[in-house]
Amino acid sequence: PETGCLSVIVLGASGDLAKKKTFPALFNLYRQGFLQSNEVHIFGYARTKISDEELRNRIKGYLDKNAANEPSEDVLKFLQLIKYVSGSYDNEEGFKLLDKAISEHEESKKSAEGSSRRLFYLALPPSVYPPVCRMIKKCCMNKSDMGGWTRVVIEKPFGKDLESSEKLSTQIGELFEEPQIYRIDHYLGKELVQNMLVLRFANRFFLPLWNRDNIANVQIVFREDFGTEGRGGYFDEYGIIRDIIQNHLLQVLCLVAMEKPVSLKPEHIRDEKVKVLQSVLPINDEEVVLGQYDGYKDDPTVPDNSNTPTFATVVLRIHNERWEGVPFILKAGKALNSRKAEIRVQFKDVPGDIFRCQKQGRNEFVIRLQPSEAMYMKLTVKKPGLDMNVVQSELDLSYKQRYQGVPIPEAYERLILDTIRGDQQHFVRRDELKAAWEIFTPLLHRIDNGETKPISYQPGSRGPAQADELLEKAGYVQTHGYIWIPPTL
Ligand code: BG6
Repeated sequence: PETGCLSVIVLGASGDLAKKKTFPALFNLYRQGFLQSNEVHIFGYARTKISDEELRNRIKGYLDKNAANEPSEDVLKFLQLIKYVSGSYDNEEGFKLLDKAISEHEESKKSAEGSSRRLFYLALPPSVYPPVCRMIKKCCMNKSDMGGWTRVVIEKPFGKDLESSEKLSTQIGELFEEPQIYRIDHYLGKELVQNMLVLRFANRFFLPLWNRDNIANVQIVFREDFGTEGRGGYFDEYGIIRDIIQNHLLQVLCLVAMEKPVSLKPEHIRDEKVKVLQSVLPINDEEVVLGQYDGYKDDPTVPDNSNTPTFATVVLRIHNERWEGVPFILKAGKALNSRKAEIRVQFKDVPGDIFRCQKQGRNEFVIRLQPSEAMYMKLTVKKPGLDMNVVQSELDLSYKQRYQGVPIPEAYERLILDTIRGDQQHFVRRDELKAAWEIFTPLLHRIDNGETKPISYQPGSRGPAQADELLEKAGYVQTHGYIWIPPTL
């Protein structure tokens, strides 16, 4: 691995994302020894004029549970690595100060086999990505005589549709090369999402089954049991499709549906993901159900006539040899009756099934992304006992039980480590982003124009009943009288 001076610059240091995700992730990396205090320095940058100490105080409480009252030695040492620089996002003055602060740090660490690695984390609204990138390029690039690199990390929303996203990509692309740009989709940092490739391509079990001959349908589901409280203003401009489906769920779909990459090289993997996206057929309005929960518009930051969906079920069809005819059902909703994210692969009925009339349901392979990370295969077995009955059971690999005491890293932690190591496998490439917008832009425009309207649903429910009807139409067969219970220890 590379060594030498590393500067991590968090722009938007006093914002929500930085406090809740970026700094805690950096702290966890530090605590585990991935960021060495003799190499790393962290800079916070934002407009507010505060001191180093004030920034440290603001983020302290988010680092670990007791940090606000009784900070551990690790917390104290970590906070000392953080410096704050204030300045605006479109003006050279602040960025020159920032560059000076970074350079001073690099000078002081020159003995540490001097390279100059500069990681800019834009915890900012996308509207300022272009000016900020321009300023970084102009004032803050790594000093070439020292070697090393400059990288920028950005996060969705990357635009609102194909056109605006491409415009943003072009603006950033004029300043930085693709290998310098890390587009985060934090779902790609989740343990069970990262496991997908291993599962599919390292196991003989799945290879012959993973296709249209055996699989009836695939669901990729995201449910939250709370509404848009506190972020109604942001959410209303985007809606559930832009917030969850076009990025998080579609990325998961790619990993479920892609062909085997030539190798594990990031570009080979991303090539295959792009191919899947490019094979998705235009969405059919008949295969879309939108919802909005009652009470969503009570939020003062949401307009009274908002047409924004907080729930959506969308069927995607992949036109290729492996998947022709297999519906991929993407479903996401806020303010529902439970919180979970999972991939549910449902297999076809057994041909000539002699147990058919006794069965509770079909084989399913479920990858539970969160909470209670697990993979389980639903299968029919003989019900233990003297009678010859059958029952639905499962082969269950629940992580808490199987990997006792092994902590599952936070998505951001892992992804930030990747950005430092220069591994782009779990980041979204420009052409991938474009292909993703191509799929959803026509539907999004119809919603924005009010041509397609959300159906209202009760908060705390399963969402509109029409969504379940759509699932059934798409061929999903519900299992009766079986629920998976995550093992408790
Ligand atoms: C974010 C969305 O990207 O993901 C939020 O903007 C959502 O609306 C969040 O709540 C969910 O992430 P996780 O990791 O809690 O499933």
